[in-house]
Amino acid sequence: MLQQNIEEDILVLGIESSCDETAAAVVRNGREVLSNVISSQIELHKLYGGVVPEIASRKHIEKINQVIEEALFEADVTLDDIDAVAVTYGPGLVGALLVGVAEAKAICFAKKKPLVGIHHIEGHVSANYIEHLDLEPPFLSLIVSGGHTHLVQVVDYGKYEIIGRTRDDAVGEAFDKVARAIGLGYPGGPKIDKLAKEGNPLAISFPKAKIEEAPLDFSFSGVKSAVLNHINGCKMKGEQIIPEDIAASFQKAVVDVLVDRTMQAAKKYNSKKIALAGGVASNSALRAAMEETCNKRNLSLYYPSPIYCTDNAAMIGVAGYYEYIKGTCHGWDLNAVPNLKIGQR
Ligand code: KG4
Ligand code: ZN
Repeated sequence: MLQQNIEEDILVLGIESSCDETAAAVVRNGREVLSNVISSQIELHKLYGGVVPEIASRKHIEKINQVIEEALFEADVTLDDIDAVAVTYGPGLVGALLVGVAEAKAICFAKKKPLVGIHHIEGHVSANYIEHLDLEPPFLSLIVSGGHTHLVQVVDYGKYEIIGRTRDDAVGEAFDKVARAIGLGYPGGPKIDKLAKEGNPLAISFPKAKIEEAPLDFSFSGVKSAVLNHINGCKMKGEQIIPEDIAASFQKAVVDVLVDRTMQAAKKYNSKKIALAGGVASNSALRAAMEETCNKRNLSLYYPSPIYCTDNAAMIGVAGYYEYIKGTCHGWDLNAVPNLKIGQR
């Protein structure tokens, strides 16, 4: 239930600039999004086939004030009404992160507000709290983004235990690389998702890597290479490449692995609640396969709407609220940490 007492409302301004979206949001009491403004640079980076770090930083600095102004306007609040400013300080591109961190510090310094640094991936997990008011820790989370693939136990708000991780590529990265190989462009995930609907997932058998000594870990470099080999093999033999079948078969191989590892983790840790997080959590095949498997096993499945799966600042505002009420407050020495670890403060 949302808190009704206006006097006790806590408003957090969330700021996100770790990659190619400049975003700001106002979140009330950790669960209610009053505004969620995202300025995407995708069109710009498309020209280069991926995110160009320096261009990203330059765009963030151009957009950030405008985006924050819009978020405050939409929420019908001013900076004076804000209780705390939460900002992503890692992981991500250093130049991109620095824009958000410097902006948050300037606001907190000028307005004498508490500054709360947030881990980007913890933000992704927290996106689940927005639309699932019943969801509370402990639960198991499968985090699948462009830079991360992790299985974590969310022990409490802001308390995470990593139980599985990728040994090489992140899932989103594999989607983007395969998309590029079949000529779909950047960002590839949503394009593969769409194209796969027209293909046969059983047309090509791609590998589903298992790591014997670490059964909850992932590896996606093998499936990515297998797709590239398949394409080269077809070219050499003069055979036709069927992008729809490649997309569907690749997606199936990846989704099967994600579901398998998540179910193994749920069994091992006796988790009854599973939350998907990160950009790839909006993948329709992953959602459908998880729904089916969770229904069969009587597990509760949660995932955010697509707008809260990919990078946004509402998730940072949510994670910021739970840190703020715990008393987390960063000093003026808060810096961007490009390789920040989950659970690190
Ligand atoms: O979480 P996110 O917005 O940024 C990171 O923190 O990395 O995730 C971006 C990733 C990209 O690799 C993108 O291709 C992938 O999420 N993605 C998808 C879908 N939507 C976004 N992958 C598969 N299917 C989708 N529908
Ligand atoms: Zn992200």
